[in-house]
Amino acid sequence: MENSEKKYLITSALPYANGALHLGHLAGAYLPADIYVRYLRLMGRDVVWVCGSDEHGAAITIRAKKEGVSPQEIIDKYHRLNKDTFEKLGISFDYYHRTSAELHHRTSQDFFMRLYEKGDEFEEQVIEQYYDEAYDQFLADRYIQGTCPKCGYDSAFGDQCESCGSDLSPTELINPVSTLSGQRPVLKPTKHWYFKLDKHAGWLREWISEGVLDGVQHHDPRTWKKHVIGQCLSWLDEGLQPRSITRDLSWGIAVPLPDAQGKVLYVWFDAPIGYISATRQWAAEQGVDWEAYWKGDQVELIHFIGKDNIVFHCIVFPAMLKAHGEFALPRNVPANQFLNFEGQKFSKSRGWGIEQHDYLETFRDFPNKEDALRYVLIRNMPENRDSDFKWDEFVEFHDKELADNLGNFINRVAVLTHKYFEGKVPVTGVELADAHPKVLEIVEKLRHELEAFSFKAAVQTLMELSSYGNGYLQDVSPWKIWKEDPADPRIAACMFASLQICGLLSILMEPFIPFSAAKVRQLFGLPPLAPGMLATALDVLRSGGSLLPTGHIIGEPFILFAKIQDRKDPVRMELIQEQKAKLEAIMQEEKQEERVPLKEAIDYDAFAKIDLRTGTITAAEKVEKADKLLKLSIDLGMEKRTVVSGIAEYYTPEEVVGQQIVLVANLAPRKLRGIMSEGMILMAENTEGKLTFVSPASPDWGNGFVVR
Ligand code: MF3
Ligand code: ZN
Repeated sequence: MENSEKKYLITSALPYANGALHLGHLAGAYLPADIYVRYLRLMGRDVVWVCGSDEHGAAITIRAKKEGVSPQEIIDKYHRLNKDTFEKLGISFDYYHRTSAELHHRTSQDFFMRLYEKGDEFEEQVIEQYYDEAYDQFLADRYIQGTCPKCGYDSAFGDQCESCGSDLSPTELINPVSTLSGQRPVLKPTKHWYFKLDKHAGWLREWISEGVLDGVQHHDPRTWKKHVIGQCLSWLDEGLQPRSITRDLSWGIAVPLPDAQGKVLYVWFDAPIGYISATRQWAAEQGVDWEAYWKGDQVELIHFIGKDNIVFHCIVFPAMLKAHGEFALPRNVPANQFLNFEGQKFSKSRGWGIEQHDYLETFRDFPNKEDALRYVLIRNMPENRDSDFKWDEFVEFHDKELADNLGNFINRVAVLTHKYFEGKVPVTGVELADAHPKVLEIVEKLRHELEAFSFKAAVQTLMELSSYGNGYLQDVSPWKIWKEDPADPRIAACMFASLQICGLLSILMEPFIPFSAAKVRQLFGLPPLAPGMLATALDVLRSGGSLLPTGHIIGEPFILFAKIQDRKDPVRMELIQEQKAKLEAIMQEEKQEERVPLKEAIDYDAFAKIDLRTGTITAAEKVEKADKLLKLSIDLGMEKRTVVSGIAEYYTPEEVVGQQIVLVANLAPRKLRGIMSEGMILMAENTEGKLTFVSPASPDWGNGFVVR
């Protein structure tokens, strides 16, 4: 099929509207989709990108209860915050919907009814479920806490243990407690509807492993990420089970059946249908036909998600779509892995990591804060394995790549064009495509990487283009030629080609760093970007035309990316250092909290049994083949002792001779490395495991005195 006939329907995971999003979310499902969609638009493809708030589920009602407000207040607050923050970061959804919308409720109920009426997609089961008698209601899995049967963590939830990560069911919890009343819940029968996922296992396996659907090649499975296929196959290997798609809850979409009072659709049933309702809402506002983006062979459905959502998007939702019968299945699900933050998981409770809106606020005076962040996240995108956000890399990528490479090239070209040609594109007989075939090769490579969801590689290819430009400028060095003969035509040829590369960069930058792309467009006197402009630009260049024609007037040069590391202007580096200091402080504080807890109480007699004496180390030597041990001779006044002590990592034998100590003098002797050790020296140990002697505060205190 020709690309021009395709209808691209791009989705990003609907974030729960019960909290702010952090940089890991951004790098996982939103930034990659934004790059892809911006690229498709530049190529003139017919694309719509939908997202929105996921506003159901027990997590939201629990949050509301904790804060003493209604669920509606919670979702309104976070829907607004997340939508707003995405916009500020240049995340260019075509529509950001919400699942509390009436249209979504209706779409989900219709979907449910269609499957219900098929007769063979659902089954009813009466199951025993925990019930809170004080509150007179069934408890969602999240409302039950207890001890994890796998790791013993005492605050595991009924669906998952947050300590060891195991998936649980509420009846597995030891000592379950209702988080509503704090009482032990009782088991009661309740009826639920199950989607017979098991029934779909056969075609799912063929579709995922071979890309074949209903006997025809639907997609090339080699274009899917290995970790995505791997996770799906391991699920299929474990065997699919019917999945309950209703819940006893008051918050959510009512189950549209007469015998389902007080029941709502499970949040993971309605949320992905949110992609459909968002498209419908968008289409209604645009006055176009939503079905063209969901039904038929021309549909290119692509889900951008994080790896924790793979199963829902590659198995459960496709099975729902297929069971429904009218919808297209995803052509690809380029799920990302996780982003860590300075070597550790993002953790709101620990304050480890940074939320999107927080970043914008903290970096409000930082020039190009949006693109600086986008760039470092793309450079390190967790495309195939987990990756790590580091402030040092933020600085390095920004300064070395954005400032020294890309920004520098653009600035030099603008400055030199003003210097030699009064800001006008010079006259020349050269064509970029002829003189610089390498440029179009780089562009083709970049396009290929974008189409293959390899955004990390693609952004490096973008840098390759400006490196090429810098290298070319340097090779020709028009400033040298100019000194000899300002009218030498090589100067015009060099500046003309460089200007065309800048024109190309102003387009190719846009998917990655759109704010800077717009500035570059302005700098070179080019109109704002619009759909199809990359496709047009490539046609123009291929047919010997130019993006900045002779005589075109460019604007005044300026610094595109002010370096972070700048001795004359340290404010930006100070901001980074503050961030690092904050993390250091968290780690220090946590170390304090790691103090060894007190042992259980003993009575005086137990203490009095220990005979502690002052003494002095008179000789010391290393114990052979034992890195940690020193053999010490101790003067105890009335007698001499030999003691083997594990302090060799902290003290050399020379250092300890003459050291006053306190000895546990009545400890039963025992052999260590063949040496009889007659007592134990008291040492204090800090949280890092460092040791120091405990000794009388007065120097030359005699040996053999009692310590009590
Ligand atoms: N709200 C879910 C999460 O944050 C994602 C839902 S994606 C959708 O994990 F498919 F259900 F929309
Ligand atoms: Zn556990």
